[in-house]
Amino acid sequence: MIDHWLGGEHHFPVDVAAARAFEQAYGPCAPIFRELRAFLGRAVRAIVADGVDSFLVFGAGVPTMGNVHEVATEATVLYTDVDPVTIRLGQRILAGSDRAGYGYGDATDIGTVDPAQLHRFVPGWGRRPVGVVFLGLAAFLDDDTLARTLDELYGAVAPGSRLAIDFDTDELAAHPEALAMMGPAFRMRRPEVFAPLLGRWRPTADGIVPIARWRPDGPPADVPDAFYGAVAVRPAD
Ligand SMILES: C[S@@+](CC[C@H](N)C(=O)[O-])C[C@H]1O[C@@H](n2cnc3c(N)ncnc32)[C@H](O)[C@@H]1O
Repeated sequence: MIDHWLGGEHHFPVDVAAARAFEQAYGPCAPIFRELRAFLGRAVRAIVADGVDSFLVFGAGVPTMGNVHEVATEATVLYTDVDPVTIRLGQRILAGSDRAGYGYGDATDIGTVDPAQLHRFVPGWGRRPVGVVFLGLAAFLDDDTLARTLDELYGAVAPGSRLAIDFDTDELAAHPEALAMMGPAFRMRRPEVFAPLLGRWRPTADGIVPIARWRPDGPPADVPDAFYGAVAVRPAD
């Protein structure tokens, strides 16, 4: 669905049908998802500017349309997801790349990421600063699981590492039909509820803000504040 809204080519008729059904209940989604992808780009570029040259991406979805390795053009990137169809698609898209790979990874258990892939695409994992991209995932994890997962990631990465993260606000609650389509486990959060879940991760001075207002390149895009985001740091020891 996201690839459809981004104008990509890697999706199926069933995705387009689901995207259209969601838009009937909510309204146009393409501008919001394009801004989300622009936020990913701004966050990844900022992390690269801080000297990071490798990324581990959780819940990656389709690795195109301005995804991490297309923004961080010198970096190595390991994309992971739990969905077998997405993983196979991602592996097909990245076949032949010596800089980016795709494999299974449950964001809530770093132990599920293949160590060989991790060391190939995120060299020095645990010893050198890396970028961890955790976008489009928080809504699928309850508070305890999200806090534990972020804390374990903090413990696993080297000091100086960065985390790009976003979460859904309660904006969708104003569209009950669309909200129902997200299923009963879907979680919306207010920023003051989300902030403590970051635990030891320290947000940059940009704060936890609507994604369109996170270091905008110009006047912020005029989209609903459906998502907030942040880049957070594991400070140097
Ligand atoms: C809303 S999409 C976000 C895709 C992409 N990150 C983006 O922002 O465009 C959520 C993705 O997370 C994956 N996912 C859901 N639960 C996960 C988990 N526990 N670990 C890793 N990926 C997960 C889904 O398969 C899906 O591809």
